[in-house]
Amino acid sequence: MKRRGFVKLCATAVAGVAASPRILAEGQQVYHPYGRVALVDPYTKEPVGAGSLEVGETYLFHYPYISTPCFLLNLGKAMKTSARLKTRDGQRYRWKGGAGPQHSIVAFSAICAHKMSHPARSVSFINYRHQEVRFRNKDDKIEERAGVIYCCSERSVYDPSDGCRVLGGPAPEPLAAIELDYDATRDAFFATATIGGEMFDKYFQNFTDRLILEHGRTDVDAVARDACELVRLRDFTANQITCQA
Ligand code: FES
Repeated sequence: MKRRGFVKLCATAVAGVAASPRILAEGQQVYHPYGRVALVDPYTKEPVGAGSLEVGETYLFHYPYISTPCFLLNLGKAMKTSARLKTRDGQRYRWKGGAGPQHSIVAFSAICAHKMSHPARSVSFINYRHQEVRFRNKDDKIEERAGVIYCCSERSVYDPSDGCRVLGGPAPEPLAAIELDYDATRDAFFATATIGGEMFDKYFQNFTDRLILEHGRTDVDAVARDACELVRLRDFTANQITCQA
């Protein structure tokens, strides 16, 4: 299904939500259930198990569209605490923490909430930094922290252990979270929805021509179905640009 058809489907879903006050909970308006898609190994096409996700490594998959990149991280510690966050237009929502047996696996859109810098085949200016880095926080003070997502385009910094809350730089809202469902019986992860501010319309307006070349197909705005390949970011992009204050 392409984006236009999907938007119609969402409009129908929103009408259903409006009819049921019980599910008009905080965050419903920024919850987008695009569909349940398994995260699979690109070679075996089998689900990627929790034990194979290394702490400190950056993994990449494309969801909810076949050309919209997302980061998947094993933060190496339980992320059981939820975070209350706001989109740029003031809509409140709740990020529910990590998935997997240790609650340590998190996923976020890799499209920067400032000007949409994102991992491309040639280069990625937005990267997960497992080791401590220096950045300017919201008070314009130098801060040092490990385990952040740092966009070196204009130096926005996000905290993936706190729903990708903005720690510094010009980004006006957190990176959109990807809801993950973990099936313990199959040791398999599924992406099921996005939560938070999305920039997909603008992303396709700006980058479709390049995405067609990069993905070798014209339907780059097709909704991902059934399975997404999970790869290491360093295998996807030729250059990871890193920086610090
Ligand atoms: S695009 Fe990421 S900080 Fe500007």
